[in-house]
Amino acid sequence: MELPLALREAMEQQLYGMQHEQMIHDAQALSLRYRTQGGRSERLLNGEHESCAYAVSRMPATHGAVFSCLQQVLDAAGNLPETLLDAGAGTGAASWAADSLLELKSITCLERETAMTKTGKAMMEKGSEVLRLAKWIQKDLVQDEICEHADLVIAAYVLNEMTAWDRLIAAEKLWNAAGQILLLVEPGTPVGFSGLMEARKHLLQKGAYIIAPCPLYHDCPKPEDDWCHFSCRIARSRLHRQMKGGEAPFEDEKFCYLALSRQEGSPANARVLRHPQIHSGHVTLEVCTSGGIQSIGLSKKDGDSYRKARKVKAGDSF
Ligand SMILES: C[S@@+](CC[C@H](N)C(=O)[O-])C[C@H]1O[C@@H](n2cnc3c(N)ncnc32)[C@H](O)[C@@H]1O
Repeated sequence: MELPLALREAMEQQLYGMQHEQMIHDAQALSLRYRTQGGRSERLLNGEHESCAYAVSRMPATHGAVFSCLQQVLDAAGNLPETLLDAGAGTGAASWAADSLLELKSITCLERETAMTKTGKAMMEKGSEVLRLAKWIQKDLVQDEICEHADLVIAAYVLNEMTAWDRLIAAEKLWNAAGQILLLVEPGTPVGFSGLMEARKHLLQKGAYIIAPCPLYHDCPKPEDDWCHFSCRIARSRLHRQMKGGEAPFEDEKFCYLALSRQEGSPANARVLRHPQIHSGHVTLEVCTSGGIQSIGLSKKDGDSYRKARKVKAGDSF
């Protein structure tokens, strides 16, 4: 996946006047803090140099993850959302992703850190009209009241920074702010997944319907020691390779997500959990269905289903 040109230009703008070595150092320090100090509701960002480093090093991946989720979610949603609340917006990755896929009329970004807000706002100046007009509000999703509302509320890579208790408080407020859909996106790790499962349980009790990725409402059929995640492949720039200390021209971002709706929507009959195993004349798919996780085999005699099965990838509906 390539980033929108305007977003790449906005990132390049962040690099003007920056020492590359310093930025690489900041990105690595921030990444270490996210990995070792997340889940405690602590503030993890130190100033504007780190918000720029976040934008350049992490935004391609978080944008890619939200974009991939939205592609699945919008298929299952009824009416397309026209207004967006980007909660824990950081430097605005989710807003850029939603702006590429939807005809949005307004965007509101809620963010606690001044530095993230400043960088995110400056980057959106390079975007579409609705991005340029986005309203940024400084807010703590746990401590403050959320009186803003939108058709679509997205919290991407935010809840995992909170304690389990704070996560449920924030998730419930965000659900209350959502007119149509709440999309929660988290890192595709056991910790990210278990946080989502807690939010899933809590919000189903509040009357939410799941529209993606799960085809079923009852308990997740994944065994306790396993977790459901998907992945998207993002093209990497040279600087990005230096920042992440890798040589590959792409990175694979693993994520998990949950989209909850006020209306039933049309969830997938089956969600592909792993890339298909393609053999000569037959394909095996691991899918999650309303009957649980199943391995299904399709051969040429299954016609269109067989042809479709050869092309699907993990995360697609089937
Ligand atoms: C890892 S960044 C993700 C940013 C963006 N959503 C993305 O996907 O790239 C997490 C963001 O959530 C914000 N955040 C964490 N806890 C918050 C809270 N309690 N209230 C508001 N923002 C919060 C952080 O300041 C940070 O900008």
